[in-house]
Amino acid sequence: MTMDDREFRTALSSFATGVTVVTAASADGIDAGMTASSFNSVSMNPPLVLWSVTKTAGSAEIFRHARHYAIHVLAADQQALAMRFATTGIDKFDGVAVTHDPHGVPVLEHCVARFDCRQWAVYEGGDHWIIVGEVLGLHKANADTLVFCEGAFGTVNSIRQPELDDDHRELDTESPVDHLLLYNLSRAYRQMSRQFHASVRESGLTVPQWRILASLYGSVTRDFRDLQDRTFLEPESLRDALAELSSAGLCQVAEGGEQVHGTEVGHERVRHLFELGREQELAAADEQTLSTLIEQLSQVVKNTT
Ligand SMILES: Cc1cc2nc3c(=O)[nH]c(=O)nc-3n(C[C@H](O)[C@H](O)[C@H](O)COP(=O)(O)O)c2cc1C
Repeated sequence: MTMDDREFRTALSSFATGVTVVTAASADGIDAGMTASSFNSVSMNPPLVLWSVTKTAGSAEIFRHARHYAIHVLAADQQALAMRFATTGIDKFDGVAVTHDPHGVPVLEHCVARFDCRQWAVYEGGDHWIIVGEVLGLHKANADTLVFCEGAFGTVNSIRQPELDDDHRELDTESPVDHLLLYNLSRAYRQMSRQFHASVRESGLTVPQWRILASLYGSVTRDFRDLQDRTFLEPESLRDALAELSSAGLCQVAEGGEQVHGTEVGHERVRHLFELGREQELAAADEQTLSTLIEQLSQVVKNTT
């Protein structure tokens, strides 16, 4: 891949999208499904939507010729399903709850919204097919949407949660949610990361780049999977980011991309961010509280892996 391809993909990944799984069945009844973030609205009247499928996808021909298909907008807790339907060569439907609609289209049981489509047009779009569907049926559930941006998954919670300015802070009276760990974690994360991520960007790194370099700090070698867990990046974005960092001498990738370790230049690039991060944390809580929190949260991370 040339540098330009990578730059193009990186720039595109700054456009936040939802995540869908599109499903259809072949003429001889084989179920197909794939994760797609290229979904978008086209027309209100008639109701049209589009998405695009890479011509090299195993199921591209099924989608190109399908007369009907379903587009499922995934919920915040369906990240694993998104990764499953983005994996070529596995039985994607194994263990997934599906029914079939009257046209034989496999329908996932749980999602935020579903668009039941009839094929309207298929256009040539370079190395993708652009598929336009007429929406014949709609289903909407009350759940948070999964979001995809810069190669990582997130939720709309961070968008929905209102920011209280000083004048309105007294309106923030206690509610049962204040006693939930997740709520406090995401609020603390959101408030603390705002300042820290600004410092990261000021230093000329993106947040995913910082996460990679920070995970490689010291003389550790990490395998690709471990790095994925630590950086919250999906494989393709992690590979792109590693290629970029290694061509700048900030990390080294070995054994066909499976083993990654840091370099002195890479360490140098993030050293001050560790110090800055610590300084900012000490403004939020004292040393003893921080170390207790970190110890206990590390335990929670281990218990939930
Ligand atoms: C978040 C996310 C979004 C994706 N969006 C698209 C897309 O819009 N179009 C596409 O062709 N592939 C997209 N992919 C990649 C496909 O899901 C992947 O190539 C899939 O394995 C193809 O399945 P198949 O080869 O079994 O048909 C996306 C992957 C992820 C993780």
